[in-house]
Formats: sequence, structure tokens, C-alpha cells
Amino acid sequence: MRTVALVLAAGRGERLGHALPKGLVPLAGRPLLLYALAALEAVDEVDRLIPVVPADAFDRFAQALAAARGLRKLAPAVVGGRERQDSVRAGLAALPADAELVAVHDAARPCVRPEAVRRVIEAARATGAAILAAPVRDTIKRVVAGRVVETPPRAECWAAQTPQVFRVEILREALAKADAGGLIGTDDAQLVEALGVAVSVVPGDADNLKITSPEDLVWAEILLSKGAKRPRSEPQASGGGPPQGPERNP
Ligand code: CTP
Ligand code: MG
Repeated sequence: MRTVALVLAAGRGERLGHALPKGLVPLAGRPLLLYALAALEAVDEVDRLIPVVPADAFDRFAQALAAARGLRKLAPAVVGGRERQDSVRAGLAALPADAELVAVHDAARPCVRPEAVRRVIEAARATGAAILAAPVRDTIKRVVAGRVVETPPRAECWAAQTPQVFRVEILREALAKADAGGLIGTDDAQLVEALGVAVSVVPGDADNLKITSPEDLVWAEILLSKGAKRPRSEPQASGGGPPQGPERNP
């Protein structure tokens, strides 16, 4: 079954507050976006990688991607939109006609392990919709206007991660329904849930963190250096060599 990964990097990175777009911010010397791409490249089940990038930094992203090594599955970048959902829609429009599964991944999650990606693809193949998620450690409160209105049972609370993997027609339909109803989700599964489709949960790694604020970059560097099986090289303009990605120790 043909699987295409959309790697979303078209956000503004406001909370990171860096001068560069978040996907180009250096992590251990390499643009952030390249880590997620390398992790997905390492998964045999992924056939193609489509980066979704901001319109106002398209050329800079194109340059960084052209300098990346070992990404044989990389397709040309597409321009994202204002909301995350707009970026997903732009990515879906660029899918090859024979794509059956789409894996939506945040470029802001550089520490994802190829093994976890394999597991969530496998689950989506069987059920049509699957996400990586980790059980929460804190008790979650639903808070409105500064007051707790609900404490959902902690054992039932999971933090949603990416990749989130769907049969292409399911995600297309979910987006169309969300657009028609004015629903803006904070992840893709939420739109699929609203369609009434069951979403399977695949336990992910607690350290598949999303780079949101500056201290997350420090954590990610530590995690990547601990997990690295081999030294990573700087991106270069040309030349061969194996993919230098964040393949991690299991
Ligand atoms: N994203 C996107 N298009 C958007 C908004 C978000 O492709 N219009 C992507 C981001 O680039 C990121 C992922 O969705 O990889 C998760 O979003 P988030 O962590 O919120 O990143 P940003 O939106 O860039 O950051 P912020 O909310 O702080 O501005
Ligand atoms: Mg955002």
C-alpha cells in the first residue's frame, strides 16, 4: 500500500520566537525539519516525503532541502496555509494519485523514532486511522475561566503525537466536513473523529516531543545525542553517503 508522509513546517513558530522559521532553526547544527524527514526516510513503508513550508520562506526552505543528504524519497515542497488544517489541505492536494495512506507529521517533532512510525502505519493499514500517543503523567484538568470544570480519569488520558496516519479518502472527507462545519482541530485525528471514524491509538515514545518553546531545543539536543548510534554530519551541497538521521536506539 503506497504511503506518503506530509511533513508540516508551515507554522509561524511564534512561541519559539526565533528569527528563522521554526523548520530552519538549527538543532545540533542542522535545520530542524531535516530530522523528521530523515526519520521518515528510514521507514521502508514510507514511499514519499512531501514537506509543507511557509510561502514567505519558500526559497530558504528549498535551499535547505536541496542541501540535505540521503533523502531519496523527497518530493518538491508545497506551500502551506494560515491554519495547520490549511497546510494539511495543501499537502493532500499534492499527493500522487496512487497514494493510499497519508502520514501527517509535525516537522517540529525531530525525535520521532522510525520504529514508532512503522507501528502507526501498520495500525492504520489495518484500521484506516491511527495515531501515536503517550499516556499522560500529570492529572489533566479541564479549566474554563480559571476554574476546574472536569477531571477526566488519568488512565484514559493520552497526549496525541504525530505521525497520525489515515487512509487518504478518510482524511480528505474529514477535512471537507470540518471545512463545511467550521471546525478547526488541533490535530488531524480530531477531524476524523468528528466524521465518526474510530481512531486507533498506538503507544508512542514519551520523548517524541514537539519543539514549541526555546527550552525544547535544549531537551531535543540532549535526547538526540543520547540516542544517536552514529555521528551525524552537517548537510552538504553534494555527495552521496548514507542518510544521516536521528535513528535512535530502541
Ligand atoms: N503548521 C503548519 N501550518 C500552519 C500551522 C502549523 O504546517 N499553518 C505546522 C508547524 O510548522 C509545526 C506543526 O504544524 O511543525 C505543529 O504546530 P506548532 O507546533 O504549533 O508550530 P507553529 O504553529 O509553527 O508554532 P506556534 O504555534 O508557536 O506559532
Ligand atoms: Mg501553532
